[in-house]
Order: sequence, then C-alpha cells, then structure tokens
Amino acid sequence: MQVSPCRKIMENRKVNGDGDGYGYGYKPLLIGDIVISKIILDLCGGTGTWSKPYLEAGYDVRNITLPMYDVTTYIPPKGVYGILSAPPCQMFSQARNAHNNNPKVKPRNFIEGMNPVNACIRIIFQCQETLVFWALENPVGLLSKFLGKPVYTFEPWWFDGDENWSKRTALWGKFNVPQRVYLNYEDRPDAYNVYIRAKKRYSLRKSKIPSIQDITCGGHKVQNEIRSITPSGFARAFYESNR
Ligand SMILES: C[S@@+](CC[C@H](N)C(=O)[O-])C[C@H]1O[C@@H](n2cnc3c(N)ncnc32)[C@H](O)[C@@H]1O
Repeated sequence: MQVSPCRKIMENRKVNGDGDGYGYGYKPLLIGDIVISKIILDLCGGTGTWSKPYLEAGYDVRNITLPMYDVTTYIPPKGVYGILSAPPCQMFSQARNAHNNNPKVKPRNFIEGMNPVNACIRIIFQCQETLVFWALENPVGLLSKFLGKPVYTFEPWWFDGDENWSKRTALWGKFNVPQRVYLNYEDRPDAYNVYIRAKKRYSLRKSKIPSIQDITCGGHKVQNEIRSITPSGFARAFYESNR
C-alpha cells in the first residue's frame, strides 16, 4: 500500500521542483558549497529509537523531547527535511476504559492529551515549505476521533527487529509505507522461543501472537515506558522507505 505519492514521483517532483506546499521542492541547505545534513525532527522522541537510523546515517537529528525540550513551546529551525512524532498516548488508549471507575487513575482528558499532538501538528505546518515526509504515531485508539482514519497501521513483529510481539500502531502523515518483512508470525526466526516464553508466563491470545503485555515485565511504570519505545525493526524499515 502506498500512502503518499510513490518514491519515484517524489524524486521527480524534487528534481522538477513542482512542490505542492509540503516540501517536494526540497533543496538542501548550503553554506557556500557545503551541503548541510538533512534535518530530522524527532518530536516527543523519548529514547530516540525511531530517529536512530537517521542519526547513524549522518542526518542532523534533533530529538525534541522532555525534559530538555517541550514541543508546546518549540520553534522549529528552517530547512527541516523530515518529521517523526510520537506524542503520549495515555489519554487516547482504549485500555484506559478499564480504569474509568478507578479513583487512583487520572480520568481521561482529551484536552490534555491533544496538547502535545496539536503542538506536533503546528510544528509540521511550520516546516511544510521544505518538508519531504512526516509521520505521527500512536497506538490504535481514540486519537482517530481527532485525526481521522490513520493512513497506515502496523504490528511490531512485521519487521526484522527484536520486537516479536503485537501492538497495533497507527500512523498519520505523508510518507512512504515501510516494507513489511514477515507476512506470518511463524516466519520469524524467534517465533518458537516467544511462544514458549509467553505460554509459560501468561496465556497466549486468540491470535496466538503474544501481545506486548505478554512479553514485557517489571512494574507498571517500567512496562509503560518499555511499551512506548518505537520498535527498532519498524524504525529501520521506515528509514529505508523515507530517506
Ligand atoms: C509515547 S512516548 C514516545 C517514546 C518514543 N517512541 C521512544 O522510542 O522512546 C512520548 C514521549 O514524549 C515525551 N513528551 C511528553 N510530552 C512532551 C512534550 N510536551 N514535549 C516533548 N516531549 C514530550 C515523553 O517524555 C515521552 O518520552
């Protein structure tokens, strides 16, 4: 499935410069004859796992994440090439429904949840002149109420990373779809080990694919942090399709 115009069209547009306002007319920043690295903003980037492949490839990656940087007050630089954004999902999570009557759990608050989301969208808008791709990620949940149907959803186990679990994740934006590596869970070389491990500790779901809850352990806070890390396999595949 192709979300944004295919790479070939993007390349042609870049060459021809017939941009549509979203940066297809990207021109690299120059100081004299020196090409400045393409700037990637990793908004609410946390550990920076999503942007790591860009960093390793020499892009100028800026991880705009708390506590150092706050997206709600961040002003982007000129010449941004790509934006990855992963605003907090807690207020949009379906799982929160289970805690509706639990006084220990903060009630769902869409206004609070939309603060960083709105900030990411504002930053994306401010960068549109040079932007070639952007993506905003959240687990499949109630953010669709505000952003509409996502243009792409994926499971972490589809890619060639360490993440052999399911966690349906949604992406909105303009980007080339990452290439899926595994069509069937059983194709993963580590599938059997995971079945055994997950079966011993928890029950497998109907799908026979362990969910991220079946795999992660530790306290609630630790688990939440681990679960919010972008899958490394997906990050690499996304980079390969959006360079
Ligand atoms: C859903 S997590 C994303 C984690 C990321 N995918 C990773 O691989 O580590 C959201 C991150 O955004 C950060 N964050 C929350 N509010 C923010 C804000 N206003 N400005 C910048 N970062 C924020 C949180 O600290 C957290 O690290």
